[in-house]
Amino acid sequence: MTKYVINGGKPLFGELEVSGAKNAAVAIIPAALLVDGQCRIENIPRISDVTMLLGILRQMGAKVNVVNKSAVEIDCSNINGTQATFDDMRRIRASYYLLGALLGRYGKASIAMPGGCNFGGVRPIDQHIKGFAAMGASVGIKNGIVSAETAGRASGATIYFDIVSVGATINIILSSVLAQGRTVIENAAKEPHIVDLASFLNSMGADVRGAGTNIIKINGVRRLAGGSYSIIPDQIEAGTYMAAAAGTGGSVAVKNVIPKHLASISGKLREMGVEVFEGDDAVVVTREAPLRRTNVITLPYPGFPTDMQPQLSAVLCLAKGTSVVTEGVWDNRFKYVGELAKMGGNIQVGGRTAIIEGVAALTGAPLKSCDLRAGAALVIAGLCAGGVTEIEGVEYIERGYEDIVGKLRGLGADIRSIYAPDRSEFSMRTVG
Ligand code: EPU
Repeated sequence: MTKYVINGGKPLFGELEVSGAKNAAVAIIPAALLVDGQCRIENIPRISDVTMLLGILRQMGAKVNVVNKSAVEIDCSNINGTQATFDDMRRIRASYYLLGALLGRYGKASIAMPGGCNFGGVRPIDQHIKGFAAMGASVGIKNGIVSAETAGRASGATIYFDIVSVGATINIILSSVLAQGRTVIENAAKEPHIVDLASFLNSMGADVRGAGTNIIKINGVRRLAGGSYSIIPDQIEAGTYMAAAAGTGGSVAVKNVIPKHLASISGKLREMGVEVFEGDDAVVVTREAPLRRTNVITLPYPGFPTDMQPQLSAVLCLAKGTSVVTEGVWDNRFKYVGELAKMGGNIQVGGRTAIIEGVAALTGAPLKSCDLRAGAALVIAGLCAGGVTEIEGVEYIERGYEDIVGKLRGLGADIRSIYAPDRSEFSMRTVG
């Protein structure tokens, strides 16, 4: 079992480079299944979700060559099946993109119901299924396996989503780029990673228009050819370090970002008395004054991202006054507040709303992460708190943050990753 040990209470200073976007990478890697030839993908984050997806593609017969620490070449010309090992698929949410990609390329797919972070109850995929069905697929779910099949190429269709869903938007783009005719997605999600997926596909020969707006039109083409593409920087990783600097105080340059993608996060931090300077591809976050309270509601892009809600809430624990945080995307994304309470945080949750009474200080405590962003929030709280915080469940954090320990240490944080043995083991070993 690996734990993070943080000796908190130190301001952060310095600069760091943000990695490629996790949620773009986990869509673009399955999209390689649609390409007839080799694609080179650059600015790939080194995180466990990516490793897992590349492993799934390999099992399916794809050639995957890791060129260097942030580039891979994938050639799916010789795929030998339309299903991967279900156990691996269950471990990551994004495995459901294999459904859209395999259906689009081979007219047939079976995947295990997706896993990943558990904060929305069942995490339904009804909108994905509705979209596939509109494109002529017969879709069934049995014993936790979702299967979809079309007779020949899928057919273009007009699909209206009842809710704004990132995953459903991506899955229908994937299933429609090689379909017959035109597909129109209405009420589409507008996240930067959707635009990035469309740019990747278009650079390989697809015809996807309107990504980044709520109507996306896809004209099916016969074939996608290989090419090279670089993934956008990770909006949420950047926001996490911005929040960390805001919480601890100090001054941090967060480099390799697209400042426009961070507008809602920068705006909230400014309301809290934090200075955010925007450069061309960097933001500098400086906090010298006490933190001020604010209210926030999470919404689909360009609203404030739900994937930044736990991290911002951790910082608001230290802001003067009462803040109200409303979760507008997921049903159950406040499971981490009990951990913040162990540190002295004062948060009351009712349904999708958290009321946070700011306290003067947090104190270090032994904590357990329950999902990826919750884990990031606990790291931030540990950096802000006086004394020692130990965080278990770091495998969640490492699903989505490349070298978080190294990047924070580069900013002067006292954080270590410790391998703590089971009872059957004899000694402790530091792993990073
Ligand atoms: N929903 C439905 N039916 C569907 C699909 C979604 O009711 O068919 C509901 C969900 O229950 C939720 C809302 O719609 O209440 C939004 O879900 P969405 O489909 O947009 O989420 P997702 O595609 O499953 C992606 C990210 C999440 C991020 C959400 C929202 C990936 C792999 N995951 O999930 O990221 O929270 O969009 O932005 O891209 C994370 O990175 O930590 C993470 C959880």
